[in-house]
Amino acid sequence: MGWYLFHLKPILALTILLVFLPTAATQLIRTKVFTKLEDKSAPVRREYEYYESCMVSREYFKETRLLGGFTYFKNLFTDSLRLLQNLKFKATMKTNLIELGMRIVTVCGYFCILYMLFDALMKKEITVGAFAAVFNSIGMLYGIMEEVICRHIGEIAKNLGTIQNYLNLLEMPERGGEDRELHGKLDITLDHVSFFYPGAEKEAVKDATFTINNGETLAVVGENGSGKSTIIRLITGLYSPSKGSVTYGGTDTSTLSMKSLFSKTSAVFQKYQKYQMKLADNIGISDVAFPVKEESLDDVCTKSGLDKNDSSFSEGYNTMLSREFDGVDLSGGQWQRIAIARGFYRNHDLIILDEPTAAIDPYEETRIYNEFAEIARNKTAIIVTHRLGSVKLADRIIVMKDGAVAQIGTHEELIHTDGEYARLYKAQEQWYREDD
Ligand SMILES: Nc1ncnc2c1ncn2[C@@H]1O[C@H](COP(=O)(O)OP(=O)(O)O)[C@@H](O)[C@H]1O
Ligand SMILES: [Mg+2]
Repeated sequence: MGWYLFHLKPILALTILLVFLPTAATQLIRTKVFTKLEDKSAPVRREYEYYESCMVSREYFKETRLLGGFTYFKNLFTDSLRLLQNLKFKATMKTNLIELGMRIVTVCGYFCILYMLFDALMKKEITVGAFAAVFNSIGMLYGIMEEVICRHIGEIAKNLGTIQNYLNLLEMPERGGEDRELHGKLDITLDHVSFFYPGAEKEAVKDATFTINNGETLAVVGENGSGKSTIIRLITGLYSPSKGSVTYGGTDTSTLSMKSLFSKTSAVFQKYQKYQMKLADNIGISDVAFPVKEESLDDVCTKSGLDKNDSSFSEGYNTMLSREFDGVDLSGGQWQRIAIARGFYRNHDLIILDEPTAAIDPYEETRIYNEFAEIARNKTAIIVTHRLGSVKLADRIIVMKDGAVAQIGTHEELIHTDGEYARLYKAQEQWYREDD
């Protein structure tokens, strides 16, 4: 079209730019504004979604109702929703005003072309046929512009912020590493390992150096917040050290893919999951490569103290453990035992229990840890706890204090040393007097 107009009269080609440039510019501005809006609105959206769940989700609503917090959360919810709508309204208003301005320019351009064409026709520079052809085509051009640029590209421009965020996520550095089978059972060595949580000023683990011998049962003890869970995540390779290295039989864990790292590791964490599935699947999910075997389930249930003949499990291993899917819900202690059974079920060379026993009384905890020591015979095992009653069975004990390894030794050695372990033990002694 531009070529044709240029041939008719060079100035006419310029007017085509007048049609398209303002529209394209509008879309560019729209993209910018909405990308910025997405950055601003994402945290607010997370906020109102969170307040909503505080009011209505099954996890929260009982406590929220009981505390009389419903109106409180509803106000917070309304405020953040209003803030979000305000942000959206401002962005839309801004882009629409800009669009209006640009449209005026475009319409002027349209009339400019018409005037010039008419003028050229009157001066007999172009034929009536050419006038009709161009007049018609310009109408079509406007139609295409409306359809393609304003409708389609406009929609994309609006969502480009979200798309950009998604692309940014995909471009984030991914932890690489080689897929390699770790042969045999290996010593795990931490060499001057420190770890900072993003944005934290203080390291959660500082300068930890020790070796976990293959087949050893290790206990990690220390007060809440002393860095026990963090050091476990470093040992398993879930986190990479900020300084220092963790090696499995001499291989730096940072050079291995997660798949290879985790292939022989089983862990039960403090914050374990409650899968909304059947009891059998809830346990068997830790070894999904193989079909669930009933004998294995029996075995791990006995060890974790879970009674499948309990009245809660009306259909045995086929009992659905979820209120959402017409099943039953369990007590905290029962869920913990399921999580522990799941950890035991997984085929492993290294097994870790990171205080999954909070809802189980200290006495029963000791029993489970004894079972654990039995399961862990010939395997590397790590018990994390702030209760010292069950750590005597460990070959060695690591005592954490303020992120640092304060002491390493056997129970006998540590109890007779004036230090953190003896202090903690003394403080908890009365819990276990009966046991002793
Ligand atoms: N996800 C996290 N982000 C920031 N800081 C954290 C996070 N998890 C733990 N911390 C901090 O790291 C320190 C050690 O925590 P943690 O390893 O969980 O201790 P423990 O398991 O001994 O109770 C604490 O000061 C805690 O506040
Ligand atoms: Mg912890």
